[in-house]
Amino acid sequence: FDIIVPQLCLCPVQATFGTTPNIKHIVIGRCFTYTTLVQPGLRYDCEEIWRQFEKAVVQHASCNVTEEHYCEMFNMMPQVWPCDRFLFWSKTRMLVHSYAAVFRHFWTLEDTLVGFLFNDLIWCFNFNSCPAWSTCRTHPVYSLWKRASQNFAEMACGNITVLLNGSITNAFNRKMFGSVELDSLNPQRVNYVNIKVVTSPEGPHESCSQGSIVELIQILWSRGFRWTCTDSDL
Ligand SMILES: *[C@@H]1O[C@H](CO)[C@@H](O)[C@H](O)[C@H]1NC(C)=O
Ligand SMILES: *[C@@H]1O[C@H](CO)[C@@H](O)[C@H](O)[C@H]1NC(C)=O
Ligand SMILES: *[C@@H]1O[C@H](CO)[C@@H](O)[C@H](O)[C@H]1NC(C)=O
Repeated sequence: FDIIVPQLCLCPVQATFGTTPNIKHIVIGRCFTYTTLVQPGLRYDCEEIWRQFEKAVVQHASCNVTEEHYCEMFNMMPQVWPCDRFLFWSKTRMLVHSYAAVFRHFWTLEDTLVGFLFNDLIWCFNFNSCPAWSTCRTHPVYSLWKRASQNFAEMACGNITVLLNGSITNAFNRKMFGSVELDSLNPQRVNYVNIKVVTSPEGPHESCSQGSIVELIQILWSRGFRWTCTDSDL
């Protein structure tokens, strides 16, 4: 135990604050997994996607990677999704993951190629220590997800589903679904925004008629979206 304890103490620090170790192998491996097993038949150049990603990150300082720097990488991975199956979720990760069989019918950002490749990874120019998200506006991780979310929302069409967690305050958060994604939805392409508010047994804090979700409905209404909202327990 004397020998093991110091190692346990030191390792997670690097993994938490620096670029995810082996990121190149993870990203390229996930890319081949996606194009071979998840969405076979789609042709993407995995090595080239990595090269464009690396170029965007390595050529700029850690706090200075904008969405535009990822343009060429995104151009390498165009993707079209069927309407009526877009699912947006916020703070309901547990639910989305534990009901994978039900939600398989839906497409989330994590099901897109870019979402699949970079989910749960951290990266920046300095491999040993990345700046915290809050310390810079053009964080390389933030900029990539911002553009990915925007692309996903812009493509959304037909009926879309928004799954929110009613057991927290500010279920509708202007910093998450409420910023990039909501602003990128196109009322001309979206038929209905169907909101599902899920509450845990501990009791609801918010619902379709209470709290921040009312604000979401007002925004949708003012932008000309048709919507429905359903409260449901787990
Ligand atoms: C960030 O990028 C801008 C514009 O490209 C540049 O003027 C600035 O010096 C860069 N900052 C750092 C810290 O590299
Ligand atoms: C809602 O948020 C609470 C508190 O963070 C969490 O415990 C719960 O698992 C979340 N519900 C779902 C459905 O993910
Ligand atoms: C879209 O949503 C509306 C409202 O919930 C529903 O009446 C309609 O049947 C849905 N259409 C499809 C194609 O799912």
